[in-house]
Amino acid sequence: MENPSFVLRAVKDVALDNIPKPSITDPYDVIIHVGQTGICGSDVHYWQRGRIGDFVLTSPIVLGHESAGTVVEIGAAVKNLKVGDKVAIEPGVPCRHCNYCRAGSYNLCPDTVFAATPPHNGTLSKYYKTAADYCYPLPEHMSLEDGALCEPVAVAVQICKVGKVRAGQTVVVFGCGPIGLLVQSVAKSYAAKKVIGVDMSQSRMDLAKNVLKCADGVFKPAPMPKEDDDGQPYDADKECAWSARVAEEIKKTFDLGEGPDVVIDATGAPACIQTGVNLCKKGGMYVQAGMGRENVMFPIITACIRDLTIRGSIRYTAGVYPAAVDLVASGEIDPKVLITHRFPFEKAEEAFETVRKGGEDVLKVIIEGVGN
Ligand SMILES: *[C@@H]1O[C@H](CO)[C@@H](O)[C@H](O)[C@H]1NC(C)=O
Ligand SMILES: [Zn+2]
Ligand SMILES: [Zn+2]
Repeated sequence: MENPSFVLRAVKDVALDNIPKPSITDPYDVIIHVGQTGICGSDVHYWQRGRIGDFVLTSPIVLGHESAGTVVEIGAAVKNLKVGDKVAIEPGVPCRHCNYCRAGSYNLCPDTVFAATPPHNGTLSKYYKTAADYCYPLPEHMSLEDGALCEPVAVAVQICKVGKVRAGQTVVVFGCGPIGLLVQSVAKSYAAKKVIGVDMSQSRMDLAKNVLKCADGVFKPAPMPKEDDDGQPYDADKECAWSARVAEEIKKTFDLGEGPDVVIDATGAPACIQTGVNLCKKGGMYVQAGMGRENVMFPIITACIRDLTIRGSIRYTAGVYPAAVDLVASGEIDPKVLITHRFPFEKAEEAFETVRKGGEDVLKVIIEGVGN
């Protein structure tokens, strides 16, 4: 096979197919021999449902977007890379011409070619072609696994940028999955005074507090009851009242006074969103990073009277990917710790199955590239 690829042919139908090997047509393009690829929730979502929002699978695409590899060919105008360089691949190349691109907010560009977002092919191929300036050379000591994991680190850097996280602040992060843990790590490396991680899984919280040491404290909320003392089912108002009590408990447990400066939700779970808004101090910042249900009950009056800033975070903006590579290169953040499973390319479907099944012991799953 000249370019073996892991292809999503239709919803719930994946296969190893051969696709044409890319050739350079734009002088600023490079061809990368893909070495390592992390799997992320969005890849699994397309596989299982064939769509995310407006992006709908209508013809087969190659999956994968968290990759690093080795440069095998460069266009005539490429100056930042040479053949043999190891690079982290930023998976979206924006149009460069719209007002969003010109302002540096290229995450909002409507014409971005983003790997594994229909109709664009992803990186789970032997060879992948992209723009040279969206590839970042890795220092000698960084592995291709580290390079691939720069993608979720970049997502975390963007979240902290949106949340304006800075030295001396208190930050509470809901979720101790890969993104939640990396957000905690980035906040800590920005010298946040106190970082608290919230999760239901003890093993993930142990990872945050004792292994990554990205959280100063961790909190496991009691599960929300299904009905009240009188046997009445928990309606939306009761859910929000329960969340407000959990928020008070978190403030007391970690001595957060009126509440943290920044709350980041990396879960998308309604109970976390409600607790997070109730937790934020007056004038504080709430960032939505996790994606779950499309619509949730939201404590809007609290958000209003506390003068909260509420923002969403998506992908990465100018300067974020290089910052992520630097954080990993300097050892400030060690994302390898998140890898729980490694699969060879031939077992890509098994890797996807592992992420789909999920569970406490599944964090980052990595697929090795096709050998030479
Ligand atoms: C993208 O992947 C599809 C699905 O396998 C393939 O048919 C197509 O040729 C690929 N496109 C490019 C530009 O490689
Ligand atoms: Zn991702
Ligand atoms: Zn644009």
